[in-house]
Amino acid sequence: MTLRTDITSARADFPLIAQASDAYLDSAATSQKPDCVLRAVDAYYRESNANVHRAAHKLAESATDAFESSRATVAAFLNANRNDEIVFTRGTTESINLVAAGLAAGLAPGDEILISELEHHSNIVPWQMACQRSGARLVAACVTPGGELDMQDFRAKLNERTAVVSIGHVSNALGTVNPVKQITQLARAVGAVVVIDGAQATAHIDVDVQAIGCDYYALSGHKAYAPMGIGVLWGRFDAFDALPAWQGGGEMIEHVTIEASTYNVLPYRFEAGTPNVGGAVGLAAALQYLRSFDQSALRKHEHDLVAQARSGLAQIESIRIVAEPSEHTSVVSFVSSAGHPQDIGTLLDQQGIAVRTGHHCTMPLMQALGLPGTIRASFALYNDQSDVERLIKGVEKAVTFL
Ligand code: ALA
Repeated sequence: MTLRTDITSARADFPLIAQASDAYLDSAATSQKPDCVLRAVDAYYRESNANVHRAAHKLAESATDAFESSRATVAAFLNANRNDEIVFTRGTTESINLVAAGLAAGLAPGDEILISELEHHSNIVPWQMACQRSGARLVAACVTPGGELDMQDFRAKLNERTAVVSIGHVSNALGTVNPVKQITQLARAVGAVVVIDGAQATAHIDVDVQAIGCDYYALSGHKAYAPMGIGVLWGRFDAFDALPAWQGGGEMIEHVTIEASTYNVLPYRFEAGTPNVGGAVGLAAALQYLRSFDQSALRKHEHDLVAQARSGLAQIESIRIVAEPSEHTSVVSFVSSAGHPQDIGTLLDQQGIAVRTGHHCTMPLMQALGLPGTIRASFALYNDQSDVERLIKGVEKAVTFL
């Protein structure tokens, strides 16, 4: 297959982008969907819809094939060792709740769970719940004023009591890329289980779970051009296989009597109830779409947009770019001395520029940076230089108006 190198041609693949007059700069919240994903989901429901793994008819076989081949596509995308290491969930939030609930069963007072101040609430609250259940203590490594994970503080807080380390691959609020391979090596040296929140990474940087060396990796389809309501928890087989069952119901069992049940093998043990087969088909189509591009051209395209936005915004007098992490991707967060992020967001919206404002579900990060919130422009492969130019002009106009 010839890989696509002209990334600007991708714009035409996204009906909502191609038809819209607005500049969509909120892809960290959710990405738009390419035509091939919309068609794959539509074709699944028109031609193959049935419940999976359950019936003896041809349609069920076709749905099961579609579901299991989607699992294989995800496994290949993540460079997983085995297809049964892939569990379909509703998204990153559900994936982290699943692994946190399972690990909590093996934690006790005296154990520690190490996260960071950079985390999204979905990589904080499930661990608080795990601590409430188990008596373990939640510890957070600090963020530097430059928006990076303070590795000196991380090392200082990592010790033989650390049972779990859970860190985001990419910060949703600042775009910081964390050194997850190094974090994993350090955490494994003290015997901790390592969970990586990959929600913001999947669409923007290379993800190879074997190269990272972590135990679990969580992601959301909808941030990577797939439908909402589908996500993944990858787990290294030995670790995942030892995790206690989570939700009970159909398909996750092996045998049930009124008195007790025995449970199914991976991955079905963690897929209770009817799964989101259409979502899984859409996710596989989205990952194949992502892989149809030359990856270095794709990275360069997004990197150039972010660089252009950062330098253009920095030249506006009242604007301060929040954080200049040495490694970052797809996000520019900024504040203005001229007005509140919310007001600037509204003025941008009136000019047809869609950004997110506020705390971005990272309240502890905002507290650490001493900010009420930021204005966040986030980019995807369908954005181009004209979007960045509109953003810069739109911000100039907004701050003049305030
Ligand atoms: N987590 C999503 C964001 O960063 C919703 O906007």
